[in-house]
Amino acid sequence: MRYEPQLARLGLFDARVPRYTSYPTAPHFGGSVDHTLFTTWVEAIPAGSAISLYLHVPFCRRLCWFCACRTQGTQSEAPVIAYVATLLAEIALLRRHLPQGVTLSRLHWGGGTPTLLPAAQIERLAAAVFEAVPLGAGAEFSVEIDPNEIDAARLDALVAAGMNRASIGVQDFDPLIQKTIGRAQSYELTRDVADMIRDRGVRSLNADILYGLPHQTTARMIDSVEKLLTLSPDRVALYGYAHVPWMSRRQQMIPSDTMPTPQERLRLFETAAELFNADGYTSVGIDHFARPDDGLARALAAGTLRRNFQGYTDDTAPVLIGLGASSISRFPQGFAQNVSGTSDYTKAIRAGRFATHRGHVFAGEDQMRARIIEALMCDFHVSRAEILRDFDCTPDRLDALLRSASEAFGGMVTVDADGLTIPPAARPLTRMVARAFDAYSQTAAQHSIAV
Ligand SMILES: C[S@@+](CC[C@H](N)C(=O)[O-])C[C@H]1O[C@@H](n2cnc3c(N)ncnc32)[C@H](O)[C@@H]1O
Ligand code: SF4
Repeated sequence: MRYEPQLARLGLFDARVPRYTSYPTAPHFGGSVDHTLFTTWVEAIPAGSAISLYLHVPFCRRLCWFCACRTQGTQSEAPVIAYVATLLAEIALLRRHLPQGVTLSRLHWGGGTPTLLPAAQIERLAAAVFEAVPLGAGAEFSVEIDPNEIDAARLDALVAAGMNRASIGVQDFDPLIQKTIGRAQSYELTRDVADMIRDRGVRSLNADILYGLPHQTTARMIDSVEKLLTLSPDRVALYGYAHVPWMSRRQQMIPSDTMPTPQERLRLFETAAELFNADGYTSVGIDHFARPDDGLARALAAGTLRRNFQGYTDDTAPVLIGLGASSISRFPQGFAQNVSGTSDYTKAIRAGRFATHRGHVFAGEDQMRARIIEALMCDFHVSRAEILRDFDCTPDRLDALLRSASEAFGGMVTVDADGLTIPPAARPLTRMVARAFDAYSQTAAQHSIAV
């Protein structure tokens, strides 16, 4: 790593920084958005426009120790079936408030583990969504699949419902790492599930893997990536493992002395990235890789790559509505988040109102700063001309913002007449550069390490 001393001097190995899947980030949401305002925002969606939906299933059959996602373990089907009934009621409520002719651009089911729904529930839920918001031209339906929690019947139900993108959780193939993070999953099982998905005609397969895991070494990383490449995923998300045991209590099962150092994390990321690039994958944003013909790589080339709560996307719909407990919605006016606990969520929906609990109404420079941060996270570049064209900002104000961000990174981030650019050597700093534009920023315990 040629630039390690410079990156160290700039604080890369000490900083805790958000992943900027939104701006402001969710910890800065407050009580200014309630179900009444949410309803107003839904009713203001232009008739005949396209929107996207995210549907959250906060249940898992087993709870992996490493996982920082909001989810609860359940062995029985009763809470899951009850939750689906509430989701159906929420979809019906949404349908009553949506303007005429709104169609669906993207539907994503995430969790938790959406694939623990029985086939009959998958069918009911998908049918209700498509009745409420019919699929538009070129629509995509993607689902997060835990290879340990899927079978032919549930996969058939998903494919019959129209799933055309699947994402499988892999994390790492090494047995010692799997044991340490509480997630057993053999290579053979993962391969068989990938084959089952492809055999059913699903045209796009994503895989999630992690760097920075306990006991992860360069040799183990190489081995895991090479195994993953034999499955030939269309996209890979290479997330940095966020070790936050003070927030995610299950992670206390993972001994801290088995964790790689921040410097080792950077080398693990770079080792994996080199292997993906050598195999023909295009780097997309800070942590994704895509085959050149995949939608993400094409969006990157076309300058239409976006960032949302699920990570990177080629979806350009201006509205994303989150269904289910803790889901976040994005509107041109701001963000709205549903209450997190399933019982409070159920209570609100049963009472016939949306379960909105908190959010953020855009004001002042919020949208301009959001655009700058999204551009950095997607393109490593902020176009001065675009910002001045789209926002009410004077050239002096913008130049001062760009210059001060660049100065904070001692020449590793450049500013010229075109705007601000993060060159390849400085890309590990991207989240920190984004934070320089975050007016709400503060060092918060819930954030993961910057690299
Ligand atoms: C919400 S989980 C759903 C995946 C599905 N339940 C499964 O287990 O395959 C989505 C992804 O979040 C990522 N993830 C979970 N905990 C994480 C952590 N502590 N740090 C980084 N990524 C994490 C994992 O890569 C996981 O595949
Ligand atoms: S990784 Fe997936 S299966 Fe494991 S606890 Fe997290 S959401 Fe559940």
